Amino acid sequence: MRQIKLQDYQVSIGNAWAEIQNTIDFNGVSKCFVLVDAMTKEYCLPLFLEKSQIKPDGIIEIPAGETYKTIETCQRVWNELFLHDADRQALIINLGGGVVGDLGGFVASTYKRGIKFIQVPTTLLSQLDASIGGKVGVDFLSLKNALGVFNNPEAVFINPAFFDTLSDRQLKSGFAEALKHALIADRSMWDNIKGITDLRTIDWEPFLEESLLIKKRIVENDPYEKGPRKALNFGHTIGHAIEGVLLETEHSLLHGEAVLLGMIAESKIAQIRGLLNENELSEITNHLRKYVDFSFDLQQRDMIINLIKGDKKNEGDKILCTLLNAIGQYAINQDISLEEVEVGLIYLEEQFDYSNV
Ligand SMILES: NC(=O)c1ccc[n+]([C@@H]2O[C@H](COP(=O)([O-])OP(=O)(O)OC[C@H]3O[C@@H](n4cnc5c(N)ncnc54)[C@H](O)[C@@H]3O)[C@@H](O)[C@H]2O)c1
Ligand SMILES: [Zn+2]
Repeated sequence: MRQIKLQDYQVSIGNAWAEIQNTIDFNGVSKCFVLVDAMTKEYCLPLFLEKSQIKPDGIIEIPAGETYKTIETCQRVWNELFLHDADRQALIINLGGGVVGDLGGFVASTYKRGIKFIQVPTTLLSQLDASIGGKVGVDFLSLKNALGVFNNPEAVFINPAFFDTLSDRQLKSGFAEALKHALIADRSMWDNIKGITDLRTIDWEPFLEESLLIKKRIVENDPYEKGPRKALNFGHTIGHAIEGVLLETEHSLLHGEAVLLGMIAESKIAQIRGLLNENELSEITNHLRKYVDFSFDLQQRDMIINLIKGDKKNEGDKILCTLLNAIGQYAINQDISLEEVEVGLIYLEEQFDYSNV
């Protein structure tokens, strides 16, 4: 078992099951609730209850999927808490992927002005990306994470045992965030990651620790995303837009899949600006493309560009993007033009064969 200490909580990686009950006892909790979605109820809850030996006062279930990360779903959970007479000393354990963690954390942060919560992320994406940083919230008016707050959990328990039931597609999507961490901050991690050929055989505990330490370093320097934390947005300006445009189509992508594409396109932009050289661009493209085993459709390039214009990371008319300065180094607040975005998208298209779309 490994531990990462943050300013006011700890992330445990590996078998720390007994620590969960200890955290509950330490906090003088009146009632404890476990929030699950339909899938994690089936695949994660049995293991969680057996190993942790926790006897919750209630299991609260929501439907699975991003479409349920809404205020309506929050209302159902708040309602359950009132029905169970949860008081201000109650605690919620969010057992699930990023949707359960973000929504459950938001519900806890607002119920009776805030109750405590513990995160037990069960997807690779949520273990790598949602477990540090204190962002909780829900989508609103089709805008991702439009409502939310910064609030830290009491503790985070990460266990790769949950990956056994995770699909290969979900695992690969989560891995994109680890590739991102290496590219923005750690050349030697990038060199190691290039040697990985099978995600199912990774020794996860040291891997997760290394990747999370990068996120910790960046978030602790900038908890409210005023500056350096924007490094984590690498691949996300173009990635989010591709994700958004394809959302309602038959070619919809998972978040990490869209970020993989975004990282390739944004690396091209860095190369035309002289931040990356040709060799670095080919090295990045050649490695990232190994994970692009899905088809995607960029024919609606205008819609992608329109979405980029409306990105909440922009300031005024400027499109602000995080680019790589080199492998393992980032440059934030790069004011990129729509022409450059177009060049990035065209480069991306050229890299892949469209015959299967
Ligand atoms: N708070 C943050 O800092 C942060 C960071 C990154 C992403 N996010 C959010 O996280 C969400 C995406 O996270 P996600 O990819 O985990 O999505 P998710 O929670 O929808 O999980 C993906 C699917 O996998 C299922 N699942 C979860 N764990 C499983 C397991 N162990 N075995 C089998 N199935 C399992 C879920 O039920 C769901 O159907 C987005 O809403 C995103 O905004 C938040
Ligand atoms: Zn992301």
